[in-house]
Amino acid sequence: MNVIEVKNIACPIDGEKLVSSGKQLNCSNGHSFDIARQGYVNLLPVQHKRSKQPGDSKAMVLARSEFLDSGIYEPISETLNALVLSQMREEKDHCILDAGCGEGYYLDSLCHFLKMQDCDRNVSFIGLDISKDAIIQSSRRNKQICWLVGTNRQPPVVTESIDIILCLFGFVNREAFSKVLKPGGLLILVDPGAEHLKELREIIYPEVNKTEAQETIAEKSGFTMLKKEVLTYRTMIDSNELIKHLLLMTPHFYRASKEGRLRAEALSKLDITVSVLFRVLQKS
Ligand SMILES: C[S@@+](CC[C@H](N)C(=O)[O-])C[C@H]1O[C@@H](n2cnc3c(N)ncnc32)[C@H](O)[C@@H]1O
Repeated sequence: MNVIEVKNIACPIDGEKLVSSGKQLNCSNGHSFDIARQGYVNLLPVQHKRSKQPGDSKAMVLARSEFLDSGIYEPISETLNALVLSQMREEKDHCILDAGCGEGYYLDSLCHFLKMQDCDRNVSFIGLDISKDAIIQSSRRNKQICWLVGTNRQPPVVTESIDIILCLFGFVNREAFSKVLKPGGLLILVDPGAEHLKELREIIYPEVNKTEAQETIAEKSGFTMLKKEVLTYRTMIDSNELIKHLLLMTPHFYRASKEGRLRAEALSKLDITVSVLFRVLQKS
């Protein structure tokens, strides 16, 4: 497959298509946005921000990068890559949006994987995250991907221009996703299953709740469920640093008590269960 340039970025203020002119993107109403030195574009105007530095902090982003680069979650990435390839439609041109892409690990891996496939399709890739630190880190991973700071509440892309939206461990906004997906376009959700990281949760919480991925999106929202699959495996983390990174990149870091966190941070190794639910939904 060939990686092609993204042509469907939209102005976050009025939704008009943005066109590149040198170091800026401009819309026909005169709004302009600088292309940063690292190659990303900040399309999150102050009026769309709910806090000064929204999204994951630099420390969380760096922890997630270190953890993901260790390869412990590589089977998740491989399963996602195969799933995306199996679900791509016949059309020659595809645009894939990773909504809440974090520091870019999964989209970068997908881009490399699809490039290796021997077929004549053209694919463009957009990584979107509300955290500027996450997008700066993403820009270091892959220069062929268009990295945008922006919000899932209003993805800055042209209406009905996306073939596949990926949302991994992220915040789903079904109305906004439906608006930017082409008719028949796909939403691929990746969420923690009930057993995911249960060993870590047993250490940090006095009582462990079963976490279930929410089923609501398909039933209520103009999407049809096409496929569900669960990936489960056990693995060992044998480094104190990686255990700390794992804790910091999950919501458990903020939910756990100080004592719970300290118990996990003292470990030098930990057996974990990774259990992840993949769902493919189609815009009806
Ligand atoms: C749990 S992380 C998952 C990151 C990545 N998908 C992964 O699995 O490695 C959630 C990400 O969503 C981002 N985020 C939070 N609210 C968002 C929003 N409204 N729009 C876009 N991204 C958002 C955070 O900054 C963070 O990078």
